[in-house]
Amino acid sequence: MKLLLLGSGGREHALAWKIAQSPKIETLYIAPGNAGTSSTGINVPIQADDFNGIKAFVLKNEIDMVVVGPEVPLVEGITDYLKNDPQLKDVSVIGPSKQGAQMEGSKEFAKHFMNRHHIPTAKYQAFNNQTLKEGLAFLETLQPPYVLKADGLAAGKGVLILPTLEEAKKELKEMLGGMFGNASSTVVIEEFLSGIECSVFVLTDGKHYKILPEAKDYKRIGEHDTGLNTGGMGSVSPVPFADKDWMKKVEDRIIRPTVEGLTEEGIDYKGFIFFGLINVKGEPMVIEYNVRMGDPETETVMLRIKSDLVDLLEGVAKGNLDTKEMEIDDRSAVCVMLVSGGYPQHYDKGYEITGLDNIKESIVFHAGTALKNGKVVTSGGRVLAVSSYGKNKEEALAQSFASAKKINFEKKYFRSDIGADL
Ligand code: AMP
Ligand code: GLY
Repeated sequence: MKLLLLGSGGREHALAWKIAQSPKIETLYIAPGNAGTSSTGINVPIQADDFNGIKAFVLKNEIDMVVVGPEVPLVEGITDYLKNDPQLKDVSVIGPSKQGAQMEGSKEFAKHFMNRHHIPTAKYQAFNNQTLKEGLAFLETLQPPYVLKADGLAAGKGVLILPTLEEAKKELKEMLGGMFGNASSTVVIEEFLSGIECSVFVLTDGKHYKILPEAKDYKRIGEHDTGLNTGGMGSVSPVPFADKDWMKKVEDRIIRPTVEGLTEEGIDYKGFIFFGLINVKGEPMVIEYNVRMGDPETETVMLRIKSDLVDLLEGVAKGNLDTKEMEIDDRSAVCVMLVSGGYPQHYDKGYEITGLDNIKESIVFHAGTALKNGKVVTSGGRVLAVSSYGKNKEEALAQSFASAKKINFEKKYFRSDIGADL
């Protein structure tokens, strides 16, 4: 099979690493990929949202399957664009339709969907410029802290958690006034939930589903979850509190109703569903849906899938995922992100990365790297994901920290408390 993977982050390097292990793969292309993905396949200089460029490449290279990594092309409708083209009717696309991608592309859509299917989530209401007054009044009925969410995609920055009513009212006005452009022309206000978060993933063919290993992500820049939010500073899988009983609640109350809801409503969905969950006193609730894998969760989840991922993806495409096996590795997997000093605010790029060749006991996924005159240099805030196996998380973490110390670049930073709270 000839497979084209879209995207360029650590998530895509981890997906490419796993896909490339499949005996079914004849050629793996990654568009645009990064310095790391070029060791698993062939990088193609096409951006993941360049629909015309992707189509031309798929036709010319007789691609059999397109796997979409990031959310933006999905929300913009890449799946419909490819599937509606008669020349591409035999090409499989892994990623939901534009309508399905609304599960991530519109928080209001996702919340209404959960309400229709009785899926546990925080109480909420949605407001726009015309209903600002009602929004301000709704805030007065809630207890602090206040959660305001831009309806649309805002590159992970669209959620504000405000400690006082005054700030919440001020931010609501600013959001509706265009703080996140069109993405915040509608704002969802919801009840604050307190608990530990956990990311659960499934693959679905629109009817059947397979549950992937779960993971916990560490979002804040500082140790002990302090400071600004980032794209994710590390991840751990499995998550101790996500035991058999808890996962049964997740499957019965959240996963199955979600997949059945999509089927019932005739929403075309073939791909990954990422359930951002929170454990509220032992009860799982949904914080958000994403229509793709998580980053940096993928950098541990892929390590724990023993089955052939491409075989599973074929099941997704053909609608016979129920006939496939999902075999999971019992070992722990962890990932520690090495980031550029200054991230998530200003940071410099272009620093040479050394020591990568010395790493034998960890798997290093590239997130923000580039090749410059034959050298690997930093090219983003999140630079490398250092993933390791262990018989438990402590052993895996010790390995990732040891590897993290052997890799160097100017102003390297990582959190040394990943997994410590579990
Ligand atoms: P989201 O983009 O919806 O995942 O929100 C970003 C982050 O904000 C989540 O990962 C949570 O840490 C936090 N968050 C979102 N909604 C809530 C809520 N209702 N209660 C508490 N924290 C929340
Ligand atoms: N790790 C969270 C995300 O991918 O959105």
